[in-house]
Amino acid sequence: MQRLNKLISGRSDIHIRSSIVMNINSFNSRKFSSTIKASSSEQETTIKKYGGMMGKNWDELWQNNQTPWDTKQGCPILRHLVENVYNNRSDLKHGLIPGCGNGYDADLMSGIKSIETVTGLDISETAVESANGKKESFSYGQVSKVSFVCGDFFNVDKKFDIIFDYTFLCALPLSLRESWAKQMKNLLNSKENPQSELVTLIFPLFKYNKNGQLETDPTVGPPYLLNFELVEKLLTQQGFTLIEKYPVPANLSHPARVNNEIIARWKL
Ligand SMILES: C[S@@+](CC[C@H](N)C(=O)[O-])C[C@H]1O[C@@H](n2cnc3c(N)ncnc32)[C@H](O)[C@@H]1O
Repeated sequence: MQRLNKLISGRSDIHIRSSIVMNINSFNSRKFSSTIKASSSEQETTIKKYGGMMGKNWDELWQNNQTPWDTKQGCPILRHLVENVYNNRSDLKHGLIPGCGNGYDADLMSGIKSIETVTGLDISETAVESANGKKESFSYGQVSKVSFVCGDFFNVDKKFDIIFDYTFLCALPLSLRESWAKQMKNLLNSKENPQSELVTLIFPLFKYNKNGQLETDPTVGPPYLLNFELVEKLLTQQGFTLIEKYPVPANLSHPARVNNEIIARWKL
């Protein structure tokens, strides 16, 4: 198992339970191409469990280049935090970006001076391939410290000093939200490092439906509408306390997401 993890991640200390690795492999190794198609019932099962959009699971979306969430850049607010908060700290050694997609935020996180490893995790093998293909072009951080790993967030067994959630919680099926909060608690290295933190970039606070009207139904998505109180409830139930929160200033948001994001930092 250790060897498998090492093969997957280049590190032996990321433990993904073996049963789940099998599930992930069966999920990911199926290339939903024109030649090998999953049966519609298998497809429904993976979508039900892990989510997806437009009737497709995450890997199919990545394979079809249907990635409307991809802003092609790291989050300016994360860069701001790296340069103004995290670079003044020496305790942030291991970082995680769950649902990393193309990995731009992993590049930013690897810019933290004290960082030793950044794991960009995605359940889609195609996303991980894509992120690995982009690694050469990353120019902000310390790319040698970044590993992209294919796996299920809910089955990672490892501790991190800093975790950054962006467009991950809002992408998950609503039924997984409490598990998301519990798993964030499991993953945070709070016993060894009481300063370890979870950073949530809460988005979208509003969105429009296909008729151009504001969507008010929180069950329509992904992305599912989020708000601070919802995230606060999920995390405080697990013992998290708020370090700070503020609406992301316009100059630190992607132009298409101005006034639609709140940054909140949490610790245990
Ligand atoms: C909306 S996309 C956001 C990607 C990236 N954060 C971005 O902003 O470009 C959500 C990502 O989460 C991944 N994902 C969904 N469920 C996951 C899980 N259980 N474990 C790991 N990744 C998951 C999907 O494959 C997808 O790439």
